Amino acid sequence: MVSYIDAAEAPLKNTGQVRLYGPEDFEGMRRAGRLTAACLDELTDLVKPGVTTQEINDFVYKFGMDNNALPATLNYRGYTKSTCTSVNHVVCHGIPNNKALREGDIVNIDVTYIVDGWHGDSSRMYPVGPLKRAAERLIDVTYESLMRGIEAARPGNTTGDIGAAIQTFVEAQRCSVVRDFCGHGVGLLFHDTPNILHYGRPGEGVELKPGMIFTIEPMVNLGRPHVKVLSDGWTAVTRDRSLSAQFEHSVGITAEGCEIFTLSPKGLHKPGLPND
Ligand code: MF3
Ligand code: CO
Ligand code: CO
Repeated sequence: MVSYIDAAEAPLKNTGQVRLYGPEDFEGMRRAGRLTAACLDELTDLVKPGVTTQEINDFVYKFGMDNNALPATLNYRGYTKSTCTSVNHVVCHGIPNNKALREGDIVNIDVTYIVDGWHGDSSRMYPVGPLKRAAERLIDVTYESLMRGIEAARPGNTTGDIGAAIQTFVEAQRCSVVRDFCGHGVGLLFHDTPNILHYGRPGEGVELKPGMIFTIEPMVNLGRPHVKVLSDGWTAVTRDRSLSAQFEHSVGITAEGCEIFTLSPKGLHKPGLPND
């Protein structure tokens, strides 16, 4: 059974209890989330054929420095980059490198800035020039699945209701949900209790209460759900080499539903694609 703890009284480590944050904490998350979202907005025009993921990484580092924010991934568990850049069949945790992006690629850029101790964690898919229909459809399905998960994030529901909403939609579109990675509590810690699975059954898991702060970050494959991690210890790829996509928001549970901390200030929620 899970237990909950007033975030003001909890030690700064993951004790397995679910932190409940207060109004001032939500204000901190708004500032961190807004900066992360602003960076993801600014990346829209940078992502084009010929650009390397290292150049994307350099932008994320500098944008953080210019705004007194530290990228949370920098030196996190031995990871040495400021962002994750996951191209095509890379599911997540792609390491920026000096290879150029090519027309028709799709890339997830995942940014977490720490602002005054608060972690704003979000990612979006970016098209590299015009895409094939299947790639664009995968991006649309993945984005819609995140928004359906967010719709289910409200008091009285459980983490299983979020997972079920995502899985039901994704599988109805003949795509698959990755099981090996999940969303997570976020806030004063980068990765905290509870895990937010992107599959499951209604009513299962942890009951959602006002003050909870976590990410929802479904990874969706065009083919089968299975992944493997490459020998670099980070890069996760689809076993069948099918395309994979992901979107992520940091959200806080409110009395009525939830607040999204990482909404795009410029309305670029699907950068470079029609805004339906
Ligand atoms: N930002 C990722 C997430 O959504 C975590 C990346 S950890 C890293 O949880 F070390 F791979 F960068
Ligand atoms: Co995350
Ligand atoms: Co992230």
